[in-house]
Amino acid sequence: MSTILLAGGAGYIGSHTAVELINAGYDVIVADNYANSSPESISRVEKITGKKIALYEADVSNAADMEKIFSKEHIDAVIHFAGLKAVGESVQKPLLYYRNNIDTTLTLLETMAKYNVNNIIFSSSATVYGEANKVPYLETMPRGECTNPYGWTKSMMEQILTDAAAADEALSVVLLRYFNPIGAHESGMIGEDPQGIPNNLMPYVTQVAVGKRECLTIFGNDYPTKDGTCTRDYIHVVDLAKGHVKAIGYILSQDKCCDIFNLGTGTPYSVTEIVETFERVNGVKVNHIYGDRRSGDLAECYANADKALEVLGWKTEKTLEDMCRDSWNWQKQNPNGYRG
Ligand code: NAD
Ligand code: WQD
Repeated sequence: MSTILLAGGAGYIGSHTAVELINAGYDVIVADNYANSSPESISRVEKITGKKIALYEADVSNAADMEKIFSKEHIDAVIHFAGLKAVGESVQKPLLYYRNNIDTTLTLLETMAKYNVNNIIFSSSATVYGEANKVPYLETMPRGECTNPYGWTKSMMEQILTDAAAADEALSVVLLRYFNPIGAHESGMIGEDPQGIPNNLMPYVTQVAVGKRECLTIFGNDYPTKDGTCTRDYIHVVDLAKGHVKAIGYILSQDKCCDIFNLGTGTPYSVTEIVETFERVNGVKVNHIYGDRRSGDLAECYANADKALEVLGWKTEKTLEDMCRDSWNWQKQNPNGYRG
């Protein structure tokens, strides 16, 4: 069976993808510098799957660190999750984001070329569609103007990977544009573990529900949407992880490819719907108030997910209820995340 290197694989999406790849029979290697994670997530993946994982503490932007792995391991494909992802922090520290995110991509590509590893799947984001495109987003739309440095790093890295694929006949690239991943593995053993105050909606909701934070502020209720709050395409992280398994099957079956796929459900839900569903499914209260809009937020963001179904044979299976239940199950079992 093929061996897949997960760069940034100790993080939220990487750890769930590790489980699904192992379940599908792949061997997995993880490289992470724990900038936003801990090795505990991989210990938990080992417990869930009963398989030992080759785990390297490594900075993916550092050529010497990558050499150590590529010279020792046989790698068939790389999934590149490694990056910093906090939108607000990227506005405060743009150079940190450009340096880390772009260097990880360049170093990976250079090391792959040296060791003749020719398949890379990249964690991109719906944010690259920018403000001008109309929902639902289609892969054929042009990338737009991003509203923050984090988004620009994704857009630039897509360009770098596309140019590298055009120049190298052997290199295959798949760009996966994720929408809003939430939820956790059904065991509750792995999940999203934000450090400090969560930036994203669902971890904030679960931390209010568990009593770690007082009250959720819903950012704006005067948007031109069904109930005035923003709508997003929330996707269960296990569905998203299974999308990576399909993408690996696809890239390994092609002589050469350079493809983009949206990974979303195609169905938008509002912030209010998330809060109400979370309360109903879990029987808990989420204190919330309505506040000002958050700068940079779009009113609506959701995918046209047809291409992933047609080409990869992938579609989401889990419901919003599943997402809310599994997020809460993880939070309840791990009130302080992986820190015990
Ligand atoms: P995460 O922060 O949990 O995982 C990213 C991992 O990369 C972390 O374990 C971090 O320690 C590691 N990392 C960062 N810089 C590194 C470096 N230089 N060397 C080695 N490891 C490094 O985030 P996630 O939610 O799992 O996201 C995974 C990828 O998907 C990221 O690239 C993110 O930008 C992208 N993405 C995430 C979302 C989302 O909402 N979660 C949406 C779209 C795209
Ligand atoms: C979702 C909705 C908020 C927090 C971000 C990145 C994107 C991608 C996914 C990743 C919005 C509202 C949130 C809160 C709220 N990134 N909200 N109160 O902004 O859609 O996307 O994560 O790597 O690039 O921009 O996700 O979870 O922050 O917000 O009302 O305390 O919840 O306004 O409508 P977003 P989010």
